[in-house]
Amino acid sequence: MHTDSGLSFEKRLIETLKAQPKGSALLQPFYNDPEIFDLDMERIHMRRWLCAGHASQASAPGAWFRFDVAGESLLIVRGTDHVLRALVNVCRHRGSRVCYEESGQSRRLVCPYHAWAYDLEGHLASARKSQDLDASELSLAQVHCRVVEGLVFVCFAENPPEFDHVDATLKQSLGRFGWGSARVAKKARYSVSANWKLATENYQECYHCRPAHPEFSQGHATEKPEEETVHLRRDARQRALDHGIEISEVYRWPGGGEQGFEGVACSNDALYEGCVTGSRDGSPLAPLMGDFSDYCGGFMTYADVGPASFFLAYPDHGVMYLFLPRGVQQTDMEIIWLVDEKAEEGVDYDPEELGWLWDVTSIADKRIIEQNQFGVNSRYYKPGPYTPMESTTQEFTEWYLEQLKP
Ligand code: FES
Ligand SMILES: [Fe+2]
Repeated sequence: MHTDSGLSFEKRLIETLKAQPKGSALLQPFYNDPEIFDLDMERIHMRRWLCAGHASQASAPGAWFRFDVAGESLLIVRGTDHVLRALVNVCRHRGSRVCYEESGQSRRLVCPYHAWAYDLEGHLASARKSQDLDASELSLAQVHCRVVEGLVFVCFAENPPEFDHVDATLKQSLGRFGWGSARVAKKARYSVSANWKLATENYQECYHCRPAHPEFSQGHATEKPEEETVHLRRDARQRALDHGIEISEVYRWPGGGEQGFEGVACSNDALYEGCVTGSRDGSPLAPLMGDFSDYCGGFMTYADVGPASFFLAYPDHGVMYLFLPRGVQQTDMEIIWLVDEKAEEGVDYDPEELGWLWDVTSIADKRIIEQNQFGVNSRYYKPGPYTPMESTTQEFTEWYLEQLKP
């Protein structure tokens, strides 16, 4: 930090916020100060809705998967009543993690330490060799959990931000893709040695797409500035309309903030001619999903929820992009690929081909984001100006700075 390290954190923070130049990338401490990272987690990740995964990852009663973020661990468990719950993965005996594995299927959740057992709703069902315990006081803690179009959202806040507009907007924009009954075809995790904001900032601009993502740039109009692709987007909307799909450019909820990082933002975008989906050569990858009976001439839908959960919907597959902060300079990007529930691996799709585009793209992103962090850590780093193609990133960093204000 440039400031006197003898100052209290609050004073240093206020000084750094004051020193932040307008219209430029963030100052170094926002990317490498551990105390600012802790504040990020408290003010943002612990307060917002975060996507934890897809409902098909726990489809039958007793099925569960773990979701770790910001130093916390949740178990997304399907109860005997078929409801998904987000139970906190911290034993009510002496605090061990109850489930170490990433996913499982069990009648009860048994803590490996002293074998206290919880039912699928998180109630304490048995505690070995102990009497006079009030089991009703010893249930696993629970956080808010909502499912929309198969996407499982959790929120740690006691009073979470309103979710109904996220629900309505995602139904409107993603409903036609049939994600509610889709299944996971592939998962991958990219561990990135960089602050979570460098990773999400990178996701939110396509200024870097031309130099960094030749594979993506072959098919996706987002690689060019909006004014150069107005006709493409108009044509894509018309083609979709011709197929009975009404596409307005962007669905936004006026009361829920202008951008996805505040609530939800969805937009449809054009693919280049001859390209119908996000594949190596633009050709189909998997059976059509949801309401689609053809590719509608080549388009896709982007949906962003909160600051860390992003979705890409093509007519034949879906991509969930989750950014999971692990430490001040460590972030996991988790990608989940969705296909139609009836699609059969090896028959209807090849998982390698299905994942190819977003795998090469994420490997390239990992590299550029890590190199970005490396430079930002230099004593010579000075935030430079955002360009017009980075407007969403700029809006994100402005929104972020607001969240940190005392
Ligand atoms: S800490 Fe879980 S049973 Fe003891
Ligand atoms: Fe990228």
